[in-house]
Amino acid sequence: MSEKSKDQLCRGSMAQQSDSYKSWYAAGAVVLLAAVYTWLLHEFGWFTCVLLAPTPDEITWSNSNWQEIEEGSLFILSAYEDRRFQPHYVRIMGMESLGPAQQTKDQPVNVSAIEEHELTCVLWYDNGKRDVVAAERRTMHKQRTIYDGSITYMAYLYSCPIPAARETPPSRVSLTFDVCERITNVVNVTSYGPSKKLHDPDQERDSAAGRTAPPSDKIALCLKPLNFPTKDIALRLAEWIEIQRLQGVDVIFTYVYDVTDTAMVVLRQYQQRNIVDFVIAMLPDRLPGNGKAREKFLRRTSMQLQLTEKVVLNDCFYRHLAYDYVSVIDLDEVIVPRQHHTLTEMLDNLRDVTVTVPKNAGVADGGGESQLAPPCASYCFRQSMFLDEFHQQDHDDIPEYLHVMQHTNRSMYVLTKNELSVKSLCSTRGVIVLGNHGPYQVATGYKDRCYVNRKMALLHHYRNSCNIIHNIQRSSECNKTKSDTIQEDNMIWKYLDPVRQRVEQMAFDCWQSRENSA
Ligand SMILES: *[C@@H]1O[C@H](CO)[C@@H](O)[C@H](O)[C@H]1NC(C)=O
Ligand SMILES: *[C@@H]1O[C@H](CO)[C@@H](O)[C@H](O)[C@H]1NC(C)=O
Ligand SMILES: *[C@@H]1O[C@H](CO)[C@@H](O)[C@H](O)[C@H]1NC(C)=O
Ligand SMILES: *[C@@H]1O[C@H](CO)[C@@H](O)[C@H](O)[C@H]1NC(C)=O
Repeated sequence: MSEKSKDQLCRGSMAQQSDSYKSWYAAGAVVLLAAVYTWLLHEFGWFTCVLLAPTPDEITWSNSNWQEIEEGSLFILSAYEDRRFQPHYVRIMGMESLGPAQQTKDQPVNVSAIEEHELTCVLWYDNGKRDVVAAERRTMHKQRTIYDGSITYMAYLYSCPIPAARETPPSRVSLTFDVCERITNVVNVTSYGPSKKLHDPDQERDSAAGRTAPPSDKIALCLKPLNFPTKDIALRLAEWIEIQRLQGVDVIFTYVYDVTDTAMVVLRQYQQRNIVDFVIAMLPDRLPGNGKAREKFLRRTSMQLQLTEKVVLNDCFYRHLAYDYVSVIDLDEVIVPRQHHTLTEMLDNLRDVTVTVPKNAGVADGGGESQLAPPCASYCFRQSMFLDEFHQQDHDDIPEYLHVMQHTNRSMYVLTKNELSVKSLCSTRGVIVLGNHGPYQVATGYKDRCYVNRKMALLHHYRNSCNIIHNIQRSSECNKTKSDTIQEDNMIWKYLDPVRQRVEQMAFDCWQSRENSA
């Protein structure tokens, strides 16, 4: 029915309602209709428009990872259930286009211009029901203004509140600017099991027996996306993975742009053992899809690349909500506890130190009263450089290919305690948006960063050199690093024997698997 004929019908019926009895009757009908409508809306997500989930053929794919919404306005990667807060949420990872020539070097990205376009989530349930709810955007960038001529897509976390009455989470979700437009995107909502901690049989046995052995924390690592098309990182990868495992890391997740065949064999071996999992990464839309152009884009540390990385890092974080801590870390970095053997042992201790603060800090007798400090959303570790140039001679008794084990000379200068030079273990209880170095947004009641004493642990950084960073502050840090005492620090050797053994075994297994497949 056209607007005009609706209008005529309306006026026609008004004319008939001359008498008050009739208008009361009509008003009653309207109230009744409104009630039915509200009920339908509530019960079935019934809407004024025909709302249909797209069939697989109807989905608009930008490439094999990203779906495209509204002709290149928005791109979505994945969606996760988040039961940590009330209401529960579906969190969607996405990037939104700024449109052509929206910003220049002198003019900042105008985030408000993007955010004035309201978005709606459609939550689809297995029983055929659905909910239509407003989406809330959270930018994955710390500042709301960015001056950088390179940005064409912003990174966002879209949150869709799940109505409290629903007993099961939605199985799929779509995002749309206009619910009356045909929907051409839908992603599965990845759900997570109850935290392993709650159902740890050992712990249940212990508590039944009156003991209070705390279960150890589960740790997931998000390894920064791998882009090593020519350099063969196979053995460095194996050494790094084995060190992490010996430190108590439960799982490692990464994204692979490009690695050599040998490195891929190593990744697949660890994948088969459920130690590593990875996704072949793609950039959305007009960002370079392959070859030299992509290689160049990924090498230059532009703000656009960093924003793209934020999406995959947060994807990794939300994939691992069932773990206790998630850390974002590079292949040339290792967090090394100095007073404990593993990260998990250290974490038990950190909690004791940071959670309890004396109520009267000035009173000497420690009168027994203490109050709880806000829990830490993250533990941040300060950085220490193990540059290649500090390495003078090989340790003859250690295989040459064990890069970390070989590079024991470090500068005694520990980088300044600031949020850009640390790496963190982030609590899955408190963090909402993750950055490269620590949390960007945390839940109410959490302290966003707790710096860990350098005597407790250090972030080892195994770089070729520290000169390459064109940034005054970092250049000054680099100068201080190089001018301080260079000294042997073989703390990492506590893992040497098992690492040597396991990397050797891995190399052998890979060689065998190649022989078999040849
Ligand atoms: C940013 O966009 C908003 C909404 O379009 C507009 O009102 C505002 O003036 C813009 N700000 C700048 C600095 O361009
Ligand atoms: C989404 O879930 C359905 C049903 O569980 C499954 O068949 C399908 O493969 C999933 N799609 C993706 C992209 O994982
Ligand atoms: C570490 O540095 C010292 C002093 O610069 C040097 O004598 C030593 O050979 C270095 N050790 C290694 C393993 O390179
Ligand atoms: C660091 O040292 C180099 C070489 O000595 C010098 O050119 C540069 O200005 C120094 N940078 C800072 C920030 O002090």
